[in-house]
Amino acid sequence: MAKITLNPARSKGTINKNIYGHFSEHLGRCIYQGFFVGKDSAIPNVNGMRTDVVEAMKNIRVPVLRWPGGCFADEYHWEDGIGPQEGRKRMVNTHWGGVVEDNSFGTHEFMELCEQLGCEPYVNANLGSGTIREMSEWVEYLNSDGDSTVVQKRWANGRKDAWNVKYWGVGNENWGCGGSMRPEYYADEYRRYQTYCRTYRSNKLYKIACGPSDGDYNWMEVMMQRAARYMDAITMHYYTLCGDTWKQKGDSLNFTETDYYKTMVRAMRMDEFVTGHSAIMDKYDPAKRIGLIVDEWGTWYDVMPGTNPGFLYQQNTMRDAMVAAITLNIFNRHCDRVVMANLAQTVNVLQSVILTEGDQMVLTPTYHVFDLYKEHQDAKEVDCFVEADKVGAGDWQLPQVTASASEKDGVVTVTMANTSADRAVSVELCGVKAQKATGRILKGEMNQYNDFGETNLAVESFDGFSVKDGVVTVELPACCVAEIRIF
Ligand code: AHR
Repeated sequence: MAKITLNPARSKGTINKNIYGHFSEHLGRCIYQGFFVGKDSAIPNVNGMRTDVVEAMKNIRVPVLRWPGGCFADEYHWEDGIGPQEGRKRMVNTHWGGVVEDNSFGTHEFMELCEQLGCEPYVNANLGSGTIREMSEWVEYLNSDGDSTVVQKRWANGRKDAWNVKYWGVGNENWGCGGSMRPEYYADEYRRYQTYCRTYRSNKLYKIACGPSDGDYNWMEVMMQRAARYMDAITMHYYTLCGDTWKQKGDSLNFTETDYYKTMVRAMRMDEFVTGHSAIMDKYDPAKRIGLIVDEWGTWYDVMPGTNPGFLYQQNTMRDAMVAAITLNIFNRHCDRVVMANLAQTVNVLQSVILTEGDQMVLTPTYHVFDLYKEHQDAKEVDCFVEADKVGAGDWQLPQVTASASEKDGVVTVTMANTSADRAVSVELCGVKAQKATGRILKGEMNQYNDFGETNLAVESFDGFSVKDGVVTVELPACCVAEIRIF
């Protein structure tokens, strides 16, 4: 028996809906074929955006979408992607697969996509190989109404009103693919670049500095020391690998029980990194004005055999669903500092929520976790204390139950995962007086997945619980993620 004690009187505040954000880079088949097929495609689309993918993303209430990278962002020159399609510059995407990028998906197309999705755009600008003027003019192009040459260009390209983009990333992984900089150097560059990202009318920009990778606490320390007052948020990236090196990251489909537990134990390190970086941020920003944005997270395995190694295409099993459940529970519990997160990446790349093949689309187990967790968006976090046995294999041990909770309109939502591959568990939910409850669940074998024409895994309604004297007792099957709503 495991126990979750809920305490609605204790809360870290609101769970920012942007924690449920996504990331789409010009990488492999994420943008092209994933989101964008072009107006003339036989695949049903609206202005080039796949209808099936847009509708699926709307169902999980995607709040924010980051674009155009990733590493691609620091090589991207936005002016190559505006104006008549036939005049757009072609480049070779040297980072990702060496394929030709014809820039047919550019600024206008991204804004159209966000409008169709009903989400906020998060534009990641180029600091690594771009200029201050380029970045500043991109902000102007998107946000200004002034009668300037830059804005006239937007008008000529068919858009009268400014879009008022709020979220601006100033470089990406500038310690690596974004320029191999030292934190001291990037801190100064960040200060310069952000100066010229102007606010037009009352649309105050939300400026996002490039932060560290996983446990690089020195990068965070230097940035907070030297540039805290110039930023609204700072990023952090952490990917979960199963293998022990970047050359051998593990297989996305064929893995052992030990691999399963190892991957989850590694996913749990997100808590260590968020806690460690938050402690540094607390030193310089005790009022928590500055947000921590985990704008790249998820599993990263070896690419599927036979696919372009630069396309980062991998399958997605119940193991990935467990990683998503664990990670989103961690973010919810740190909602006083974590204000946004973006899973890498939405379609056909890394831990995708959607895979496509021609006109077919598959919703991955990870997609269904976002569905199960959507009630947390903008709800009040509720303190929840989990007592559970450990499960695992050898050195790779973790609690059998992970959970987080929130409250909105008098209803408490608890999301939890049973991490055991083969053992069910009873979980008692105490601390709130339940009148009644409802449930939804995603369950399967650890290496089960959805394939084209063969969808086995989906969210189902769940009644494996009882309510007695105000306490809900849930019978969680092995390897599942569940949502219980307490009324
Ligand atoms: O998501 C794939 C890549 O991982 C991104 O382009 C980069 O920022 C990170 O290293």
